Amino acid sequence: MIRIIGTWKMCREGLAEAYAMLQQGASAGDAAVHAVTRVEDDPAFLSVGYGGLPDAEGRVLLDAGYMDGDSLRLGGVMSAEGIRNPVRAARLLCGRETDCLLAGRGAERFALENGLEMRDMRTPRCMDRWRQAVAEKAARRSAYTGHDTVCVLALDQGGHMVSATSTSGLFMKAPGRVGDTPLPGSGYYCDSRYGAAAATGLGEDIMRGCLSYETVSLMKRGASPLDACREALSSFTASKRGLGEDAGSISLIALSPDGAFGAATTLPVFPFSVDGALYAADPEGGVRPAADAEIEGVD
Ligand code: GLY
Repeated sequence: MIRIIGTWKMCREGLAEAYAMLQQGASAGDAAVHAVTRVEDDPAFLSVGYGGLPDAEGRVLLDAGYMDGDSLRLGGVMSAEGIRNPVRAARLLCGRETDCLLAGRGAERFALENGLEMRDMRTPRCMDRWRQAVAEKAARRSAYTGHDTVCVLALDQGGHMVSATSTSGLFMKAPGRVGDTPLPGSGYYCDSRYGAAAATGLGEDIMRGCLSYETVSLMKRGASPLDACREALSSFTASKRGLGEDAGSISLIALSPDGAFGAATTLPVFPFSVDGALYAADPEGGVRPAADAEIEGVD
């Protein structure tokens, strides 16, 4: 069995290519990193990689994470500037005994020393958007549009699973702000025995629930990926409501070792891709194949 799933419409083309790679015997890691780098390299996607959303000072500071489900090893970079493909740095860091999560200059130096390509990640388009926000004194929460992180979960022919994530984080974030995306358990988790999960949405919420670990933990206790996503999300949003807070913007995806998949969301519609085909989740717990036209405007 092979399978590869990813968040949002933006990763669909890369996932279709990655699925073909898996069919030809590629590893889950190679396939997942291929799908994520396709999004990182495309300036059309404003919330990931090249042309990502700038912070309050107009710098594009990127976060990425990677976890290997056989070894439970992980890597991540955060608040890193000028690394063309942060997910590649995260993957290289995965496997280290120590120092596997690196921030800022440490992450940048690691990428340079390991031969990763460096580039100015700003584009005229993302900087126009930043200048406009500065001019309008936009509050960062009101500038958040709900679709941000590319998350990919892959299962290869050998039963090996990985999770990989990448984002520029919140638009107009405070310099140095880190969200859930590079943090294991929050933005991603993977255990090849039980499954993989990843999250997209407001990192400050996702971290409070450790939602990716929670989802895999539910699968470990026997839940299907769909039920695990639904249960992890609904129990967290119930906790928030108990605190007098609204549900916020959170979506989850999960994949089990037998190739079954699931998703859950608080959004009116959450597009995701399975082997390159488009699906949509809704806040009532539904998951179904979707047509492009239904989710126009939601990357
Ligand atoms: N989920 C991405 C972030 O909050 O940075």
